[in-house]
Amino acid sequence: MAKPIPASSPGTRFGDVTRRRFVLGAAGAAAALALPGWPARAVSPVVHAIAAAPASAQLLAKPGSPKTQVWAYGGRVPGPVVRARQGERLRIELANGLPQETTIHCHGLRLPNAMDGVPGLTQAPVAKGGRFVYEFDLPDAGMFWYHPHIYATEQVERGLSGVIIVDEPQPLEIDRELVWLADDWRIGDDGALSADFNHPHDVSHGGRIGNLVTVNGAEVESIAVKGGERIRLRLVNAANARVFGLHFGGLAPRVIALDGQPVTPFAPAGERVVFGPGQRVDLILDVPARPGERFVVRDAYYRRFAYDFVTFVVEPGKALRDKPLDTSVALQPNPLAEPDLANATVQDVLIEGGAMGGLAEATFKGEKVPLRRLFREHGKAWTLNGIASASMAGAPMFRLALGKSYRWRIRNDTVWDHPMHLHGHAFRVLSRGGKPVAGRPWADTVLLHADESAEIAFVADNPGKWLFHCHVLEHHHGGMGAVVEVI
Ligand code: C2O
Ligand code: CU
Repeated sequence: MAKPIPASSPGTRFGDVTRRRFVLGAAGAAAALALPGWPARAVSPVVHAIAAAPASAQLLAKPGSPKTQVWAYGGRVPGPVVRARQGERLRIELANGLPQETTIHCHGLRLPNAMDGVPGLTQAPVAKGGRFVYEFDLPDAGMFWYHPHIYATEQVERGLSGVIIVDEPQPLEIDRELVWLADDWRIGDDGALSADFNHPHDVSHGGRIGNLVTVNGAEVESIAVKGGERIRLRLVNAANARVFGLHFGGLAPRVIALDGQPVTPFAPAGERVVFGPGQRVDLILDVPARPGERFVVRDAYYRRFAYDFVTFVVEPGKALRDKPLDTSVALQPNPLAEPDLANATVQDVLIEGGAMGGLAEATFKGEKVPLRRLFREHGKAWTLNGIASASMAGAPMFRLALGKSYRWRIRNDTVWDHPMHLHGHAFRVLSRGGKPVAGRPWADTVLLHADESAEIAFVADNPGKWLFHCHVLEHHHGGMGAVVEVI
């Protein structure tokens, strides 16, 4: 039975997000902002205090189902939406109430290296009971998200994730915004999460795929919409490993942004929207003025496990409008540096390993080791350019010259999907599977299917040591990550 979305629906439940604006005199503001290594600025940041701590959440929907012990930001799953405007300064005050160390990584935001939240690379882990203040400017509008970047296979799976929205100065004309964080869980009928984090099978195959899909921490079956309504649907994939492939069943979505970066609006082929772990999609839905009609959004990415993701039910009665709005849904581009393709340095990244991959040996801590032994003894199953990552110390995979353009040819020589994510930058996706990608969209994560290759290009304009890794968290844990240094 389809149940209606509760009053605290995905579109409205974040309305009460704690958002403090410090109104200080210039002197007070400067003092408050005088962090080590940071110039004091007379600008008031948007402040979010976020505590990470154990909590419980009603993930299972069946009446009488037990709650689930989770780890949560601000006591709920997902965490509060962090929202600010483009050009503002954001300050996130993390308090760690977890039983282990943590950090916050703001995925997709172009920020100073020291604020990137990668322990062992950009900061020390935040100890149990410890605090850390992240503070930075927001050059780009769009949808981003935050999650821990240590023991991520466990911490993200237990519920630590949340959405960041940076609003455009000129809002689009819409009737409603829906912000949906899609996730999955490996969970029993007793509500307990399976504790088999980093299970060797998950590490060497497709990662930890769960058996329960949630939207904003709840099983959602249907949502009431109005005929003629224009909805901006913002989606993020916060799952450890699951790729979503949503078929919109007649709703004719238009994509207006990928990974938070505007694209020329387009209708995706076959009304199918595919987004891998870490990726975001902004869609415009103009609901047909057909009261009572139902539109089933179905996820058939894993064919044998197809299921209904959500059903849009058009309210009976008079439509909001008879004809869809005809105002533009194009967003202004963000201030990104355009790579100089003609003079870009070309670099190759080869992805190898995993089950059924036939990789014989890998370099680990400077030594060549047979892959079987490496897997047995160290749990590593994947390589980037022959190297299974051990720690973040050691020589980076690439040293990039500040301000120069780079073109990466990434080849997935495995039989698994890999959403590859670069920190601190946005890149253009030039081609996938040997075919040019229309519009060369900007992204921070590119999904490579089995045996697929992709070409990306970007300007290395953000100095520091940045991670490049697979966002299937078990793959990253299993060796699929590297550091690139921009100097
Ligand atoms: Cu979403 Cu390296 O992270
Ligand atoms: Cu991967």
